[in-house]
Amino acid sequence: MGYVLGIDLGTSSLKGLVFNRNGDLVGSASSDYPIENPQKGYSEQNPYLWVEACKKVISDLSQKIADFTTELEGISFSGQMHSLVLLDENKEVVRNAILWNDVRTTAQCEAIMSTFKEELLRITKNIALEGFTLPKIIWVQENEPELWDKSKHILLPKDYIRYWLTDTLNMDYSDAAGTLLFDMESKEWSKKVLDKFNIPADYLPELIESSGYVGNVTSELKEVFGFEKEVKVFAGGADNACSAVGSGIVTDTIGMASVGTSGVFLAKENYPLKNYEGKLHLFHHAMSDSNYSMGVTLAAGNSLDWFKHTFAKEKTYDELLGNIGNIAPGADGLLFTPYIVGERTPHVDSNIRGSFIGMDTAHTLDHFAKAVIEGITFSLKESQEIMKEVASKSFEKIVSVGGGAKNTAWQQIQADVFNTPIV
Ligand code: XUL
Repeated sequence: MGYVLGIDLGTSSLKGLVFNRNGDLVGSASSDYPIENPQKGYSEQNPYLWVEACKKVISDLSQKIADFTTELEGISFSGQMHSLVLLDENKEVVRNAILWNDVRTTAQCEAIMSTFKEELLRITKNIALEGFTLPKIIWVQENEPELWDKSKHILLPKDYIRYWLTDTLNMDYSDAAGTLLFDMESKEWSKKVLDKFNIPADYLPELIESSGYVGNVTSELKEVFGFEKEVKVFAGGADNACSAVGSGIVTDTIGMASVGTSGVFLAKENYPLKNYEGKLHLFHHAMSDSNYSMGVTLAAGNSLDWFKHTFAKEKTYDELLGNIGNIAPGADGLLFTPYIVGERTPHVDSNIRGSFIGMDTAHTLDHFAKAVIEGITFSLKESQEIMKEVASKSFEKIVSVGGGAKNTAWQQIQADVFNTPIV
């Protein structure tokens, strides 16, 4: 029976899931890699680490699944969004990737917004935020001109792994939308934006649907991995767009609340597109001719990870969250704001920082854990509120994915805070 492999190139690890033709999960593997923080606010990764992680995941899957190499027929991807990968004329990596959660580009964002805000909103439907790709490109132009001179190709992370596997350069619409170089109406690279910021159009790869076929695994890698069949490779999409497809966000009556490193509140959008004036992100979906809006809490799972590693290292996540269901809503007056790395929605501010407010001698570690979970959830609710105010959106149900879906008490907190059934 034929298998397909889904590769998620995340911020902290690369994961592979193998499915058979019935859609049953046959096996999985993952491999971690670090984030480099060479300066405050900087967040980088060496793309070669993604290649190494991908090799390890494929080799682990070959060990775990007896007929993996004989039966694999197709590969596709989801990937961390916005992170800038620059390649030279020989398609070698020029510098570390500058990641979506890197906030060094405040000055570049301000400059874009002071001269080009209306045009940018009209063309891309988004405002300039530190996380997006365009300000990162301008930062390299301004601060590392010699590296910009060497750069000839602009990709996002999963596109680089796809290039390594197939020797073809592509980007799908859902990830292209997160670069701020993409015209959301005409579904093309925007000549206006490229000209304005001196980015040669041929630095950008061909655009393709997420379901689009780009080519086969190269004969060289086919041999290295011992694949017996030709393995077809498909474009894939932005991680949030892919989560949305997987969660059934193919209709605007269902919302999605996702907790990964960042947290996302997401809904499908219909034509004509609502004008959120940049208060939410508006991006192309991983489905053809559709779009979605979302608000992003920069440190969702990241806040919980930080809290655990700083204050409860010895506990497992299950132990840390084991009693939050027994603490009353509101954590007896203890409040947490999850802005530990700055924020995107609704406070567009890379300098804002987190807080615990209202500490009392009666508070225990359980109260703090509850406050962290409530703070993350209320932060996501602010995006739900913008959707309600601007677009009168309400949801029959909200699909919880990622960390927030793993704990029953947290699911109940989401149902209470979003005032909507959670599945
Ligand atoms: C979305 C965003 C993050 C990354 C995480 O705009 O920056 O959610 O996609 O991988």
